[in-house]
Amino acid sequence: MSRIFDALRRAGAEQTGIEYSDTMSVATKVFEARPVEAEVPAEGLTPPAFDPGPVQNAEEIRTLFPAVEVVIPPTSRLVFAAQPNSLAVEKFRFLAVRLREMRQNRPLQKVLITSSIPEEGKSLVSANLAGVIARKRQKVLLIEGDLRRPVLAEQFGIPKLPGLAEWLKGTTEQASNIYRLEGPGLWFMPAGEPPERTIELMQSGRLANLMQQLTALFDWIIIDSPPLLPLADTTLWSRLTDGTLLVSREGKTEKAHLERGLDTLKKSDLLGVVLNSCTHTDQKSYYQRYSPHSK
Ligand SMILES: Nc1ncnc2c1ncn2[C@@H]1O[C@H](COP(=O)(O)OP(=O)(O)OP(=O)(O)O)[C@@H](O)[C@H]1O
Ligand SMILES: [Mg+2]
Repeated sequence: MSRIFDALRRAGAEQTGIEYSDTMSVATKVFEARPVEAEVPAEGLTPPAFDPGPVQNAEEIRTLFPAVEVVIPPTSRLVFAAQPNSLAVEKFRFLAVRLREMRQNRPLQKVLITSSIPEEGKSLVSANLAGVIARKRQKVLLIEGDLRRPVLAEQFGIPKLPGLAEWLKGTTEQASNIYRLEGPGLWFMPAGEPPERTIELMQSGRLANLMQQLTALFDWIIIDSPPLLPLADTTLWSRLTDGTLLVSREGKTEKAHLERGLDTLKKSDLLGVVLNSCTHTDQKSYYQRYSPHSK
């Protein structure tokens, strides 16, 4: 973890111009996920009631989009649904609180989740973050913005459904591409069938149009995106969103990757860094490590 913090200090803070302490105050080691346990699938899956938000009547939104039943498979890492009292979920709640605090000082409704390189945990962080915010009775849409490597349908245990790719190709209507996930209580736009010309599709203007429409319907839109390197997709996404969280994975992200990833982000877009870790899964040892008496 210290390698990452070092890189942040030298590269992120200096080159982006963002104060080190600000970046670090957002950074949170959120994720100590284990696959969900089969015996606790239903706990905490009660759909939250919605506040009549400022944007649109919740009942109206419900009826706009088809409902899909979620059956979280035992291999899923969506801890927000299956282990709502775990330390990992606590960390996601903390992240959600930080985002809400930031929203008091800047427009922040559409949050892009990305990382420097593949497989740092963007998709899992996006889905778990969306899940904990939805629990707070917010109208949350999770968009699977990574058209090339979709994984979230499987994590939620729902069938492969038409989604963003089909919307961009113009083959289906918007309402049939967004689904109300019964149980987690959030809305989900899957990536759909991976298209051939991803960049062209994303540049067509339909994406910008879609985002404009969705902005009026939801309190939060969380977008799971591809890595910053070596693709251009995320740059396109960042033009349509309000801020970016950069996921970095302990034991995987190298300093050079993180530096290059930070270089590609506009300094005003960076909300913070999320440290995703699969080590130290034991809650007791976590607290021992961070207790005032630990060395
Ligand atoms: N904290 C974690 N603990 C254990 N496994 C993890 C953790 N985070 C991610 N993984 C595993 O790493 C793999 C990649 O995770 P995920 O799909 O979320 O990453 P990604 O950054 O979205 O990848 P891609 O760049 O391919 O879209 C998955 O197999 C996932 O289960
Ligand atoms: Mg992904």
